[in-house]
Amino acid sequence: MEQLLIAGGRPLSGSVEVHGAKNSVLPILAATLLSGGECMIENCPRLSDVAASIRILEHLGCQVIQRGSTVWVDAGRPLRGDVPDGLMREMRSSVIFLGAILARLGEAVISYPGGCELGPRPIDLHLEALRRLGAEVEEDHGALRCRAGRLTGCEIPLSIPSVGATENAILAACGAEGTTVILNAAREPEIVDLQRFLTALGARVRGAGSSTVTVEGGRPLHGGRFRVMGDRIVASTYLAAVAAAGGEAEIRGADWRHLATMTAALGEAGCRVSSGPDRAVIRAQGRLRGLRPIRTAPYPGFPTDAQAILMAALCTAEGATVFVENIFESRYRHVDELARMGADIRVEGRVAVVYGVPRLHGARLRCTDLRGGAALAVAALGAEGESAITGLEHIRRGYEDLPGALAALGAEARLTGGDT
Ligand code: UD1
Repeated sequence: MEQLLIAGGRPLSGSVEVHGAKNSVLPILAATLLSGGECMIENCPRLSDVAASIRILEHLGCQVIQRGSTVWVDAGRPLRGDVPDGLMREMRSSVIFLGAILARLGEAVISYPGGCELGPRPIDLHLEALRRLGAEVEEDHGALRCRAGRLTGCEIPLSIPSVGATENAILAACGAEGTTVILNAAREPEIVDLQRFLTALGARVRGAGSSTVTVEGGRPLHGGRFRVMGDRIVASTYLAAVAAAGGEAEIRGADWRHLATMTAALGEAGCRVSSGPDRAVIRAQGRLRGLRPIRTAPYPGFPTDAQAILMAALCTAEGATVFVENIFESRYRHVDELARMGADIRVEGRVAVVYGVPRLHGARLRCTDLRGGAALAVAALGAEGESAITGLEHIRRGYEDLPGALAALGAEARLTGGDT
């Protein structure tokens, strides 16, 4: 069985660059469907979720070429509008194709994405946004049929600033006649990246990054070239790894403004963090300190995707830290695995209290989900002895080569027992 072996307790040092952002590239790949020409996407990470998106694009009739971190998508040919169940299930966020296919063809059939390891993942806000634009949505034995003779611009108020619903609404609105205004839109940096991409193709989208996004739809879009932003959650993972193991390292390629809540938390924990436009330098020495409560929230609040990662670093802090998970219902599945290393964490509903212990010890661990898996690697770096982590397919959804990146920082991290 493939395992990631990490010998902990060694300080990290060096410099490492983050790859392109998963949560940015997935909607951008879906958005290529709106283009009548060829799109060249640079800094595209080689992740299993990206491979799944490419399979969906190819199934729909696009020609896709991937070389290194560049992907070319030619959507300027006749396309089909259905995504089969098997392809939908390969990736949680495949629902993002719905808005794009609808904008392009006026008709889309996909299967219901269903729940996931973080608890139920409803798409009611996505569907409500599409309905407001004029789509008829029918649910039929797990299949979703969306039809729109014509999409028309409108006002879309979102009751929750959902990232995916905001993106789906933007994509569908590009194919609608007239102006669409999305209110209480999610403000995540990845939505700004999507706006930049669409603008490069000739779309008129403005306001991304604020809670009101305006789309003037109905314009034919051309091809274009675009570079995906650096992954802020990957950068946060490397920062937490240094915080857990100690040492000093430079993390390059992510916008430091996107890391503010993480760097502030690590600073409060006793690390020295300095940042410039696309780099952060962290120094960690001695034991971390427990923090004021960490409450996950939509951007610019503390990201739910970094909750497990920060928690892993704080398992050995002096004092306790309270975490409140406000975004997803069951996002503490990594806690039982951390407990196998000696962590003392109590979970009650959406609250987890981490009582810092003097040290963790290496253990056999299994990834429960993408960020929970990365958190195990972070904890293992700070633990005494060797850990063996399995279930690495979760980590590959969002990290191109986590063992390689950690090894570049001087960690003893290596894969055994697999094909790679
Ligand atoms: C995106 C990110 C994911 C991140 C999450 C929150 C991608 C590919 N994934 O997921 O990594 O953890 O944002 O920052 O970008 N909700 C509803 N109805 C809906 C849609 C959402 O009730 O129709 C709820 C969800 O259950 C959740 C909250 O809204 O409680 C936020 O979810 P959302 O922002 O939509 O997350 P995703 O877009 O799925």
